Amino acid sequence: MTRTSRLPGFYKVSVDERRALVSEATGVGVDDVARSLEAGGLDEETADKFVENVIGTYGLPYGVALNVRVNGRDYVVPMVVEEPSVVAAASNAARMIREGGGFRAEADAPLMTAQVQLTDVKDRDGARARIEAAKKAILELADGALAGLVERGGGARDLEVRALGDDDEGMLVVHVYVDCRDAMGANLVNGMAERIAPNLAELAGGRIGLRILSNLCDRRCVRVTCRVPVDALKTEEQDGAEVADGIVRASRFAELDPYRAATHNKGVMNGIDAVVIASGNDWRAVEAGAHAFAARSGTYRPLAVWRHEGDFLVGRAELPLALGTVGGTLRVHPAARLSLRLLAVSGAQELAMVAASVGLASNLAAVRALATCGIQRGHMALHARSVALAAGAAGDEVERVAAMIVEARDITLEAAGKALGIIRSSGETRELAAWERVVE
Ligand code: MEV
Repeated sequence: MTRTSRLPGFYKVSVDERRALVSEATGVGVDDVARSLEAGGLDEETADKFVENVIGTYGLPYGVALNVRVNGRDYVVPMVVEEPSVVAAASNAARMIREGGGFRAEADAPLMTAQVQLTDVKDRDGARARIEAAKKAILELADGALAGLVERGGGARDLEVRALGDDDEGMLVVHVYVDCRDAMGANLVNGMAERIAPNLAELAGGRIGLRILSNLCDRRCVRVTCRVPVDALKTEEQDGAEVADGIVRASRFAELDPYRAATHNKGVMNGIDAVVIASGNDWRAVEAGAHAFAARSGTYRPLAVWRHEGDFLVGRAELPLALGTVGGTLRVHPAARLSLRLLAVSGAQELAMVAASVGLASNLAAVRALATCGIQRGHMALHARSVALAAGAAGDEVERVAAMIVEARDITLEAAGKALGIIRSSGETRELAAWERVVE
């Protein structure tokens, strides 16, 4: 079966019809899709095993980004997010990017960093030399604490000793780099750090401090690029080259100003977090890593940048992404399991490449809107649908009411109520005339 994520008109059909289309596009049975998403994919009994003091569950919309092609392969990408327009914007930008062949992405080996803090070290140089000399034995000890992972081809790969603060403080930090294969790796790495810490403290002649992974997993980065034909960027008011130049100016703004870079990166993370949540991964870890990486030069910088090169707008993003496709939440959360089946990724590195691509698409959508008509127009159109629903519109009334209140520039419950009244009481032909009277 040829997987495609190009499903025109998807947004116009009902939820059941969308499930059927996703099932057709991915080969996952339509009943499986529906069952996995029942009650947000998480019943109370399971939720009670996840965390403490459970009194219920909390639902969020589960959508799919379309048009996503990464390294020549199509993905229907699950996104869990509460913000209107994030899924539509990512799909729309991915369609433009697809016109230039889609995303090209690469991911580093899944190396996580364990940190073991040692304190009260009298002779830091001597301690460093002793630890470095014992490197092979320490890595073997670490592997002993990671037996299952070693069997799956992962394990401790290297070690580094860092002196922090001045000599009087007596602090050393040992980094152990662990290949976590398809696991996010937090539990593996933390357990290993606790196991080797006594040996490190003994070698250093110091005391054990913290033993924990670093969320700045900068040896586990993903890089994604895209080349969008400028023509694909054009709007009703501006040609593609003008839009591309506006996007480059937006990128430069973020490159030169941390205040803008924070918001620019929020646009990147809109896409990434939604995929991270849908796939049952730890979005706080991803957020912590992304922003620490953005600030690694000492100045907070954008995670994605854009340049106009000939007939193309070229986008590049790079960030650390610690994602798993095995273990943790994934084993028990039916919706997270469904996400991985829909994505059909071979493992954590491929998942990271897809998530980063959706991040770059989200960023493109945001900066294109900001550099042209502004963000509110698109936002408002989608907001109008929620207002129409809140006013009681159902089925195709939703789009009709939304269109009417957007046109009237009055996106309120009251206006939606009036529009709905007109739709319900007039025939199709009289509807517009009646609405025009209200708008006037
Ligand atoms: C809103 O969720 C995200 C944006 O603010 C991102 C940006 O400004 O680039 C639109």
